[in-house]
Amino acid sequence: MKALCWHGTGDVRIDTVLDPKIEDSRDAIVRITSTAICGSDLHLLDGYMPTMEKGDILGHEPMGIVEEVGKSVTKLKKGDRAVVPFTISCGTCWYCKRTEFSLCDTTNPNAEVAREAMGQSPAGLFGFSHMLGGYAGGQAEFLRVPFANVGPIKIESDLPDEKVLFLSDIFPTGYMAAENAGIENGDTVAVWGCGPVAQFAIQSARMLGAGRVIAIDRVAERLEMARKHGKAETINFDEEKVYDRLMEMTKGRGPDRCIDAVGCEAHAGGSIDAVLDKAKTTLHLATDRAHVLREAIMCCRMGGTLSVPGVYVGSLDKIPFGALMNKGLTVKAGQTHVQRYSDPLLKKIEAGEIDPSFIITHRRPLADAPEMYKTFRDKQDGCIKVVLRP
Ligand SMILES: NC(=O)c1ccc[n+]([C@@H]2O[C@H](COP(=O)([O-])OP(=O)(O)OC[C@H]3O[C@@H](n4cnc5c(N)ncnc54)[C@H](O)[C@@H]3O)[C@@H](O)[C@H]2O)c1
Ligand SMILES: [Zn+2]
Ligand SMILES: [Zn+2]
Repeated sequence: MKALCWHGTGDVRIDTVLDPKIEDSRDAIVRITSTAICGSDLHLLDGYMPTMEKGDILGHEPMGIVEEVGKSVTKLKKGDRAVVPFTISCGTCWYCKRTEFSLCDTTNPNAEVAREAMGQSPAGLFGFSHMLGGYAGGQAEFLRVPFANVGPIKIESDLPDEKVLFLSDIFPTGYMAAENAGIENGDTVAVWGCGPVAQFAIQSARMLGAGRVIAIDRVAERLEMARKHGKAETINFDEEKVYDRLMEMTKGRGPDRCIDAVGCEAHAGGSIDAVLDKAKTTLHLATDRAHVLREAIMCCRMGGTLSVPGVYVGSLDKIPFGALMNKGLTVKAGQTHVQRYSDPLLKKIEAGEIDPSFIITHRRPLADAPEMYKTFRDKQDGCIKVVLRP
């Protein structure tokens, strides 16, 4: 089959690889009909994620038609249509029982490597490094889905792929980010980033009762989308000092809830910490560019909440932990517990409360994936979200 494979920093290619096979009685094989590129894939493209190997198949936002199931799979049968969450979870461990699916501690075959880096090993993820399982991803013609009784979301209505595809990741990720922010009715919520995750965090903040949403980015069409679809006020961080502007907008108190939907590759026009981050990550002396996390801690009102869906990789520099502690902030983070949100968010889509396809700017065949990775990374051609069709 054809698949999008990682070959090194800045180098992804379409290769011909072996078709996946059932390896365990709980597996399903899905023929992919739609599959998206995520901001998390950019961290792989840009070389931020360790333990990648040449030939790794990327992609963790797929859906398609079930081709074959192992003999223990009861939830799906050949011909069913399903969206596949990016988190691989067993459904029976201590964490899964608490619906903390992304912390499932049984699905990472390379748990030792993760424990070395993090103290414990969270769940295996599709197409996201060997430290997190080494599972082949879904930017391919076929995907092996382990624990098929737990993850896949069966789509029984005739909703088109584009409306349900993002249940695999960015819609629940934005929703959990807003939920983790602990929004109270009327709160002012600041969202760093206007990428796909941020757009769904903005939508979800509104659903959860935010009074005001202030969105921060520097890409014109992304800011415009936040204003148009999320009714957000916006700040362009290339044109204004974010701290000063947020204080002005909140009468000096700061936003009640802050969401970092940027993660480890933050940009910042010339600020000293960002220049240092850039130099250190280029020289491999640091793992992350943490400008947004620092800025959000400084901007958040005292007693407020900081929610971090943005992906970080290693040990971060110059985090103002004293500010965080003395201001009494609450921090919540994590890979999304996708399966927790599958049913409630599918119901919202079915009820017409939200149509997640508003985010899509590019639709292309899988063969164009290498080019589309670069278009998405470089924010060319108004690119906000790419859907690939194998
Ligand atoms: N927690 C999870 O389960 C989960 C799931 C999906 C994605 N993610 C992560 O969420 C983050 C966002 O994903 P995405 O798909 O929206 O990516 P994206 O790369 O499209 O968006 C990131 C946005 O941040 C903006 N940005 C950069 N520096 C900024 C700054 N200083 N201030 C404000 N905005 C800034 C960029 O211009 C860009 O629009 C990534 O780190 C991704 O890995 C996490
Ligand atoms: Zn993702
Ligand atoms: Zn589990």
